[in-house]
Amino acid sequence: MVSRVIPVDPFDLILFGATGDLARRKILPSLFHRYQIGQFSPESRIIGSSRSKLDRAGFQDLVAEAIREFGQAGETGDADISDFVQMLDYVPVDAKGDTGWPELKAQLRPDVIRAFYLSVGPSLFPDIASRLSSFGVTTPESRIVLEKPFGHDLASAQALNAALSSHFTEDQIYRIDHYLGKETVQNLMALRFANSLFEPLWNSTHIDHVQITVAESIGVAGRGEYYDRSGAMRDMVQNHMMQLLCLTAMEPPSKFTPNAVRDEKVKVIEALEPVSQETLARGQYRASRSTSEPDSYLDHANNPASTTESFIAIKVQVANWRWAGTPFYLRTGKCLRARESEIAVYSRDPPHNIFEGAAGVHGNVLVIRLQPDEGITLRTTIKDPGPGGMRLTAANLDMTFADSLPEAGRPQDAYERLIMDVIRGNQTLFMRGDEVEAAWAWADPIIAGWSQGAGDAPQAYDRGSSGPDDSLLLMHRDHRRWRGIGT
Ligand code: BG6
Repeated sequence: MVSRVIPVDPFDLILFGATGDLARRKILPSLFHRYQIGQFSPESRIIGSSRSKLDRAGFQDLVAEAIREFGQAGETGDADISDFVQMLDYVPVDAKGDTGWPELKAQLRPDVIRAFYLSVGPSLFPDIASRLSSFGVTTPESRIVLEKPFGHDLASAQALNAALSSHFTEDQIYRIDHYLGKETVQNLMALRFANSLFEPLWNSTHIDHVQITVAESIGVAGRGEYYDRSGAMRDMVQNHMMQLLCLTAMEPPSKFTPNAVRDEKVKVIEALEPVSQETLARGQYRASRSTSEPDSYLDHANNPASTTESFIAIKVQVANWRWAGTPFYLRTGKCLRARESEIAVYSRDPPHNIFEGAAGVHGNVLVIRLQPDEGITLRTTIKDPGPGGMRLTAANLDMTFADSLPEAGRPQDAYERLIMDVIRGNQTLFMRGDEVEAAWAWADPIIAGWSQGAGDAPQAYDRGSSGPDDSLLLMHRDHRRWRGIGT
């Protein structure tokens, strides 16, 4: 098979928060995988940094352990891990003080790509950005990568953007939303803009409604403190689900370039109508006797009377010519029946039923499955085979990527693609500053609506269910139904 791996130019990647959870679970194993397939030139280096007083050998051990625990090392694993850790170095720095910065600067080479990856809480973004600049660690070509959450609301996102822009230009800033690195999310763009069949039908004349679901089976154990300040709206909707909505609803960009794509996404966010509290449903999971895990959301929140939502469903209207009259329903939650994420595009029913008396003449449903079992399904109506007259039934045209493209091999983690794009200098799959702010400008009034009201407690739902009853009612009122979760 011809290798599809395109090596990237040599780089110094400086990873702040290098001993943290995200670095160990995702970033370092992703770097290892791309090293293992031969995408790194031998002169490239990864320099870990954090407050921990580790030395190089200590960091190498930590990374090797993280890859064994969270990576997919494959058969040649241990030998490859030993080679990989030779690229690593470690410099402790104090993000809020002056120690370590001159040593970090001394480590970096002038003639290779320089990327600073801030896998730290957003409160440290301004501190690190300003010290990178005041200690002369950055160059005009350096890139800075920021993890979510990017702000807590519009004001804090604006403040972060302003703090960063004093030291970096927008084309140096890479704001990560890891959903954009998922293969199927990128496939959504391929499906829409590399095929001619779908796009002419992709509008309110033909599409009845769209359901976007990101269902998770895990709860908030271990992250209760962070999560209780965020809730599903800030943790998932303002960022990941907004990106899915944008890619589904946007106009075709003229080119597949960073600003052409991001311009179109911003237009979608700016076209969103304000959401009234009547067209959303919030839930919080409680223990259920039917599941083996006995804990409820409140067991993990700091506040025993917390009203933070672990589930939200929202009806969203994109007010433009393409989508007027076609609602988008977004739904996400923790501790649901299954981990299942998909975008389901429902076409309108046929305008006239010639099969009189035959039940089941419905519109088609195009389902883009993000995870697990990535693929695309088109629900069609066919004749029920055999005798019995013209009876109709539903049948799926089904495509899973694993079956159709077996040579693609092991599943790619979203971070792999995104980190390589940072090195390549391609911002297409990263959020621009105005995009993040527009998403907060839409989300803020919704959140303000329930944090001020008396009736702002989310409705309880059982662990392992499909969410609260209010979510079903939201659809019911529109004479529609959610697709099943885990069915
Ligand atoms: C993160 C959220 O951004 O995305 C988590 O903070 C969530 O709460 C996670 O579990 C979901 O990501 P994925 O890739 O597992 O769908």
